[in-house]
Amino acid sequence: MEQLLQQLETHRKDIEAYHTPGAEGAEQFRITYLGTKGLVKSLMGEMKNVPSERKKEFGQILNDFKQFTEAKYNSLKEAAENGQTAAAVDIDLTLPGDIIPVGSRHPISMMRNRIVSIFQRLGFSVAEGPEIEDDWHNFTALNLPEHHPARDMQDTFYISTDPAWLLRTHTSNIQIREMEKGRLPLRIICPGRVYRNETISARSHCFFHQVEGLYIDENVSFADLKQTLYFFVQEMYGNDVKVRFRPSYFPFTEPSAEMDISCQLCKGVGCNVCKYTGWLEILGCGMVHPKVLEHCNIDPEKYTGFAFGMGVERPALLKYGINDIRLFSENDVRFLKQFRGVV
Ligand code: DAH
Repeated sequence: MEQLLQQLETHRKDIEAYHTPGAEGAEQFRITYLGTKGLVKSLMGEMKNVPSERKKEFGQILNDFKQFTEAKYNSLKEAAENGQTAAAVDIDLTLPGDIIPVGSRHPISMMRNRIVSIFQRLGFSVAEGPEIEDDWHNFTALNLPEHHPARDMQDTFYISTDPAWLLRTHTSNIQIREMEKGRLPLRIICPGRVYRNETISARSHCFFHQVEGLYIDENVSFADLKQTLYFFVQEMYGNDVKVRFRPSYFPFTEPSAEMDISCQLCKGVGCNVCKYTGWLEILGCGMVHPKVLEHCNIDPEKYTGFAFGMGVERPALLKYGINDIRLFSENDVRFLKQFRGVV
């Protein structure tokens, strides 16, 4: 009898701790404890081994135990019917939570956003265009007719099944697409990814990012171009930055220029980043060529405009002190997570 009572105590503890959730858990409980071959039935069978003077006492204890078991079964069943799992009910709120990794912006996105937001403050709005482009928008309309030597400046990936299509080599295709819409004046800033068939190394890649700008209106002059870009570099690099324009050549602008800024690392003294010149080349620009305007049905006698284009990778390398352009596209979390909290 004493042994039986001890067994009952152990069973009680097991029942209390039982927490297999859902309808299945409840059914399993019923079979183990309350079924025809279950524990309660077998304990009833023990009655015959109990001395007769203690039968009443044991009967009562057993009855209690049965009620206790049935109550547990009912609560399991109810929880299952309410769609709650017993585990959810038993949740331990003092345990530490699961760690949710915090993401970060990609350094290229951060640099692009910085560039774009400066021009947005000057009233430029963002325009985008396709990365898979046709010859007209990437070359011909930009005054690079077929067999023009300037096409060799940009090594192009063509779509092998239809070479009329290519991966854009610059964001200047967006200029054409926006001008073709025929809504003037036009003041746009165009960020995007571009592709060139180049050997991949620490300094160059077969895809990278550019930001293009375009302003078309009556009486837009080279002075407007200079002042706009000067404002940009001051916002971007600080008021002590110096700029210089060097004459250059682009088929879609005339005159064309390249703009340099004084090296921000050595403050113009000369270092290995600026190759001891004191200057860093940051963008190409110029007055939109009249032929380009004509290609987009804009009257070059009435309208003029300026355009510029710059890379995003190089300023990002400089700003964040990165020495290999390939890191931007390898998606290595050890690299990317260093930009948490950086803006
Ligand atoms: N499209 C040129 C390039 O990829 C950059 C550029 C230069 C864009 C001058 C312009 C511009 O709009 O006026 O090298």
